Amino acid sequence: SIPVPNVQELMRKDPLQVPQRYVREVEDRPKDTDTSYLSSVIPVIDLSLLVMGNNEELTKLDLACLEWGFFQVVNHGVAKQVSQKMKDAAAEFFELSLEEKNKYAMPSDDIQGYGHAYVVSEDQILDWSDALILLVHPSHYRKLKFWPNSPKGLQEIIEEYSNAIRKVATELFQSFSLIMEMDKEALLGLHKQLVQAYRVNYYPPCSKPDQVLGVSPHSDTSTITILMQEDDVCGLQIKHNNEWVPVNPIPDALVVNVGDVFEIWSNGKYKSVEHRAVANYNKARISYASFLFPHDEVEIGPLSHMVDSKTKQQLFKKVRYGEYLRSSMNKKMEGKAHTQMA
Ligand code: SIN
Ligand code: FE2
Repeated sequence: SIPVPNVQELMRKDPLQVPQRYVREVEDRPKDTDTSYLSSVIPVIDLSLLVMGNNEELTKLDLACLEWGFFQVVNHGVAKQVSQKMKDAAAEFFELSLEEKNKYAMPSDDIQGYGHAYVVSEDQILDWSDALILLVHPSHYRKLKFWPNSPKGLQEIIEEYSNAIRKVATELFQSFSLIMEMDKEALLGLHKQLVQAYRVNYYPPCSKPDQVLGVSPHSDTSTITILMQEDDVCGLQIKHNNEWVPVNPIPDALVVNVGDVFEIWSNGKYKSVEHRAVANYNKARISYASFLFPHDEVEIGPLSHMVDSKTKQQLFKKVRYGEYLRSSMNKKMEGKAHTQMA
């Protein structure tokens, strides 16, 4: 990444300015009509029912992945007190001075740390957001120099929250295994090592939210992504039937989406859907994305039983996951693809 301005700081200095580098082409801008969709159309899955082996819920999950690639999860078991502590500590971190936050600044040759990943050219249109990105699991992947020491307790709550999300992910994987007609533990096993990354996004308010995007359209290179949003600020939108549909928050729910690896393993049955985030006029928004993906060395390709036995058509080539990640990042950097881990 090349260095770019800190967006929160731009706002602090002059809340009215929106530099040209953030202004989108007219066709890429959010539209008022984006919000005409009812948020209730996006499927809601009850994880406690899935864990009990409820077949109706499993059918709902299958449909959600088939038709939307996105769903919200309720009764997921993450304690309210844990998610609240996570939100409080992160909010406190972003309120620190830029100097303080930059102690954890993302170096140009890394995608971990505080800053902006995937900025490669001076004329690239920039996202209206800052982020803190960390590898969390396995623990020896951690680069602790990027884990903020302040506010006190932030490191511990990241750990605690991430473990809770990891439990949700493993429970979801059991159900995903079932809808893909495999043994319950098969999908988790395919990862060899379940790797987990964490990205906290900070979207400052914007005086011209209709001209910018908080995050550019992309799909996730993960197997799945589990997102916590704030209860009262919208921002996430997904591409559905060629329209941008908002995923409006349901209090305490988590948003889950199918990532590229899931799409590849299912031979395209379940789609890794493009999504983006918009900025708000008078409210900052923080979102918390956990990415679950396989070990670098795992070869990903369509699972043989997901390939049509008559046509034998495989929609994706087999490739090492590490290779896949590198090539999608390179494509993104050349502006050719809209895919990113985080
Ligand atoms: C969000 O902030 O709601 C989503 C961000 C992302 O998918 O990168
Ligand atoms: Fe994403």
